[in-house]
Amino acid sequence: MKTIKCVGILTSGGDSPGMNAAIRAVTRTAIFKGLRVKGIMRGYKGLIDDEVLDFATGNVSNIIQQGGTILKTARSKEFETKEGRRKAHETMRRHGIDALVVIGGDGSLTGARIFAAEFDIPVVGIPGTIDNDLYGTDTTLGYDTALNTIMWAVDKLRDTASSHERLFFVEVMGRNAGFLALNGAIASGAEAAIIPERETEFDQLAELIENGFRKDKNSSIVLVAESEVTGGAMGLAARVKAEYPQFDSRVTILGHIQRGGSPTAADRILASRMGQAAIEALLDGQRNIMIGIDDEQLVHVPFSQACRNDKAIDRSLLETVKILSI
Ligand code: F6P
Repeated sequence: MKTIKCVGILTSGGDSPGMNAAIRAVTRTAIFKGLRVKGIMRGYKGLIDDEVLDFATGNVSNIIQQGGTILKTARSKEFETKEGRRKAHETMRRHGIDALVVIGGDGSLTGARIFAAEFDIPVVGIPGTIDNDLYGTDTTLGYDTALNTIMWAVDKLRDTASSHERLFFVEVMGRNAGFLALNGAIASGAEAAIIPERETEFDQLAELIENGFRKDKNSSIVLVAESEVTGGAMGLAARVKAEYPQFDSRVTILGHIQRGGSPTAADRILASRMGQAAIEALLDGQRNIMIGIDDEQLVHVPFSQACRNDKAIDRSLLETVKILSI
């Protein structure tokens, strides 16, 4: 096995709070261990286009508290082609990059898996996505911060909802997963969560909405996961309006606000631990794995498992939302 002397780091796909803290941890651990570090700009696109910078410890100063990613990010169509990956490999060779740390979500780690297998490159992934949809890890970087943003936004909506005695449908991100909607609902005391993992009976929903009005809150808030399955907040609001015209309802789509902001302490700590673990795993001869966290312990999850797209959601939490909204 070739000795690793130089490691490249990139962020790819949708950004998430905590990515910078991970870049910092990867860079500083690598330098501490005597490796050279190359920062690759704009994800796989930058690897194809040769946007590679020498990184020293100073490059990652003062970023632990910043949202977004100093390396920028992109979703590269070209990297999905063999020719694109060949160019990316050529860039690695030119800069003497022996191994890669990829910080990103499902699509980014799938790309990493294919690239690593094709060119026999040591690659370690760090789960960076607000969606929390990667298998084998309890949580992903940015998920906790996004949950806090949702909670902050719903608290504000509650004020106006109660003043006007209204029903709000609040759409949150998550791609095809309901983690943000479900735990966002618990954290904000919402009356219901609509998630793609479970169909919600329409009359049940009406009952939950009524509950919100019955209490001192005088309002109801329903968190809806974006997804074709749920129909999103607009789709659901239209259905409810047609069948229950008595509710004065409004829709708020939180959108990309959920991806920004300074990472929470939990995300910074997770990013720091995972960044250190990624370099240690590479030096330990680990290949094609994602660093995950399982019951507070760092674990190594093979890429093939992490990207399985079937991370289970705890459906009993829907019952929690229901019980706590009576
Ligand atoms: O995967 C992160 C995510 O924010 C999803 O929750 C959302 O569906 C998607 O990215 C939005 O992507 P874009 O920033 O390309 O609109």
